[in-house]
Amino acid sequence: MHIAIVGTGYVGLVTGTCFAEMGFDVLCVDIDEKKVEQLKRGVPTIYETGLEMLLKRNIKEGRLDFTTDLARAAFGSDVLFLALPTPPGGNGAADLSYVKKAAGDLADLWAGSSDSGYHVVVNKSTVPVGTADAVREIMESRKLNVGEDFDVVSNPEFLREGVAVADFMKPERVVVGTRSERAAEIMRTIYEPFVRQGNPILVMDERSSEMTKYAANSFLATKISFINEVANLCEEVGANVDQVRKGIGLDSRIGNLFLYPGIGFGGSCFPKDVQALKRTADEYGYDFKILDAVLNVNDRQRIQMADRIVSSFGGSLEGKRIAVWGLAFKARTDDVRESPAHYVIQELLKAGAQIHAFDPEAMGTTKAVFGDAIAYGSEPYEVLEDADALAVLTEWHEFRRPDFDRIKLKLKNPVVFDGRNLFKPHRMKKMGFEYTSVGRPEYGD
Ligand SMILES: NC(=O)c1ccc[n+]([C@@H]2O[C@H](COP(=O)([O-])OP(=O)(O)OC[C@H]3O[C@@H](n4cnc5c(N)ncnc54)[C@H](O)[C@@H]3O)[C@@H](O)[C@H]2O)c1
Repeated sequence: MHIAIVGTGYVGLVTGTCFAEMGFDVLCVDIDEKKVEQLKRGVPTIYETGLEMLLKRNIKEGRLDFTTDLARAAFGSDVLFLALPTPPGGNGAADLSYVKKAAGDLADLWAGSSDSGYHVVVNKSTVPVGTADAVREIMESRKLNVGEDFDVVSNPEFLREGVAVADFMKPERVVVGTRSERAAEIMRTIYEPFVRQGNPILVMDERSSEMTKYAANSFLATKISFINEVANLCEEVGANVDQVRKGIGLDSRIGNLFLYPGIGFGGSCFPKDVQALKRTADEYGYDFKILDAVLNVNDRQRIQMADRIVSSFGGSLEGKRIAVWGLAFKARTDDVRESPAHYVIQELLKAGAQIHAFDPEAMGTTKAVFGDAIAYGSEPYEVLEDADALAVLTEWHEFRRPDFDRIKLKLKNPVVFDGRNLFKPHRMKKMGFEYTSVGRPEYGD
């Protein structure tokens, strides 16, 4: 079975590499020549645990290759995954131009040749309900040769950046949206190696499959906004959200994951997917009230910590230097798209602060956004030098148990703003820190 991946970003690269690891012949296509060149040399273009070793091994063993030539994929592959960007368009709806263009290009290639055969075109991008139908229509509108046949399948991806390889290799479920038994059988064949322990491959219609992805991400975002609201109220009433979180999370109907209060959710998926689902609801005349609340809470939560920092310095950060630990939107990734840390930094800059920042993996991606507007350190303690306060904005492991004596020694004042609740308030107080976190009283455990 020959597999092609069109779009070799976070999802495409992991998908292609993992299929190659299972023994499939995989060709990854991207329009970015530099990216393709780098990947051909076995150098990952993203930071993802476990990826480099698999990438190198599968290239060496001849199962994984990269190209900018879509025709090679069109004519050499049985299954073609579209793992293309679907960024928010003007009104929050997902921009489908990348997906539609690639589908049209594939159909044009097939139409303009004497090739005949059957292909499965798989939407792995997160796309609104109805996209599989739209893609099928685009492709059918091209005049394919007699004997050329295809199905369009929805196969949303649920991997989490940071543990993407592990998630892809052992998915909790695989969702396949198709009403074609021929396509479903091929999808089962290629995913069976990943679910040997019995996790299900759910085959459903295309629209339900597309909806499943948006419903999943919107539900997870709702959990985060919910616990952030609870944390804010805990501050008002003198409760400790850490205790409340544990108290509710042990109820199996609720579960303890995604119940961490902080500076809001970010990344390339949750904000855009909640917005896109809201937009779909609007288009169908349905007022999906929870989604507005989820987004509004998140907007407020993202800047709340910045507001606290600014007001603790009397309303202006002119002449103040703030050390920042953490730039990625979450730990274990270099991805800074919609990073809450970036939102906080923007607010601090507006208030006149100088920022000296460190992140274990997201310095390059942050430089591409902020350039010289902020300063960068080569290790966490360097950025503390002469800083008026430390703001911890991403929950990297290495920030969880730092050398507090060193922090105190280096900072001008022992002031720490913790946007991820990594430290215990009572211990910070005992060590002499002025400590602000989210939803916990100062004696909090
Ligand atoms: N990142 C995640 O954690 C994640 C998880 C699940 C689903 N998704 C969804 O998967 C999709 C892809 O997300 P991503 O994070 O991998 O995006 P990305 O931006 O990292 O990667 C997209 C890639 O597509 C390439 N590209 C653009 N146009 C192309 C074309 N015409 N032909 C070939 N390549 C082209 C780009 O150069 C880029 O390398 C999105 O719909 C996203 O919502 C992402």
